[in-house]
Amino acid sequence: MLKNKCIVIGVTGSIAAYKAAELTSWAKKQHADVNVIMTKNAQYFINPITFETLAGTKCLTDTFDRNFQYNVEHVELAKKADLFVVAPASADFIAKAANGIADDMLTTTFLAATCKKLIFPAMNTRMYENPITQDNIAKLRHYGIEVIEPGAGYLACGDTGKGKLLPVEDIEEHILLHAAYDHDLEGKKVLVSAGPTQEDIDPVRFITNHSTGRMGYAVAKNAARRGAEVTLVSGPVALKEPIGVKTIQVKSAQQMYDEITAISDEQDIIVMTAAVADMRPEQAAGEKIHKVTMPDAIKLTTNPDILSFLGAQKRDDQRIIGFSMETENLVENSRLKLKKKHCDMIVANCLRDKGAGFGTETNVVTLITKDRAEELPIMSKDEVAEKIFDFIEKDC
Ligand code: CTP
Repeated sequence: MLKNKCIVIGVTGSIAAYKAAELTSWAKKQHADVNVIMTKNAQYFINPITFETLAGTKCLTDTFDRNFQYNVEHVELAKKADLFVVAPASADFIAKAANGIADDMLTTTFLAATCKKLIFPAMNTRMYENPITQDNIAKLRHYGIEVIEPGAGYLACGDTGKGKLLPVEDIEEHILLHAAYDHDLEGKKVLVSAGPTQEDIDPVRFITNHSTGRMGYAVAKNAARRGAEVTLVSGPVALKEPIGVKTIQVKSAQQMYDEITAISDEQDIIVMTAAVADMRPEQAAGEKIHKVTMPDAIKLTTNPDILSFLGAQKRDDQRIIGFSMETENLVENSRLKLKKKHCDMIVANCLRDKGAGFGTETNVVTLITKDRAEELPIMSKDEVAEKIFDFIEKDC
């Protein structure tokens, strides 16, 4: 995902320095050109050879190396970097970077680089919360450098509080948000619905379906990585809220309808992946005193069809995408749905296909518009999400 991207990883003196090795290995596996620069103090925690082996490039440590080529190299690196990541970033590095101090290889290259810069602090809570550090962070942000809030928890020094290096997978997602795509959706607003809805029968039980939300979360993540401003309206799922996405949690179809219709007007692209329950028990859960006996006692009433509502309100410049699950006549039935719900594209799953639909890591879909139907092979839900946006840009 990072092919042809030059990522510079700065490592400073923190007990979390070893986590930068995992990050380096991941970036290399994403086919990035990875270059690590360490401060002197970082080398007390981890050896440069580790980074050299993982990245396959020289680990830079000292600006005063006698090798002329080597000095040129660090300015070259500042020029060719697509993304500069400092993880872990100590209070000392943050103070130097905020004040333009360039007294070693890392701070010199950092000051010379003009690319996007991300800083992931890791330090003792008291150091992090010190107003001096906070002022330095504010100053860096003022200059357009992103300083990402550290995690909170038990720290290596024995204190508990803010200052923990973010988990490596979160740092990875921040990198992907900036470097995985050319931000072709920059300036666009994208709304995605995901997951099942839960329709209460009584205070204890509810009607739901098998949707895990994975497809919708992949769609939201892909849009964010392409630079869009993304809102995800999610039914109850067991997934972590995606980084870089505004997530609104809902339970019932009515709540999903309310949240979506409140902001649908301002969206450029809306993707309804949610498996919205068509029906709900007639009586509101709160009105029930006793549990009902299943199934005869449940009287059902219809839920609003969100996609149909959005289709009816659609602006010419808006793109609305629905999903459909079919067991037969996939293209014909989906085209009927496309027409009935006035949307621009239907992403259709055939439930008979192995690896398609709910609860799988993969999906098998056909992308259907008024005039085209493109059947995609089995692929990961992340890949399907990417194809959906490629298709919208090209064919909708
Ligand atoms: N959908 C919706 N609101 C509903 C039901 C469905 O917005 N109350 C959306 C889904 O998110 C999906 C699309 O409509 O994008 C198609 O959902 P599906 O359940 O396949 O369509 P239905 O209209 O329910 O048709 P059927 O069940 O007859 O196939």
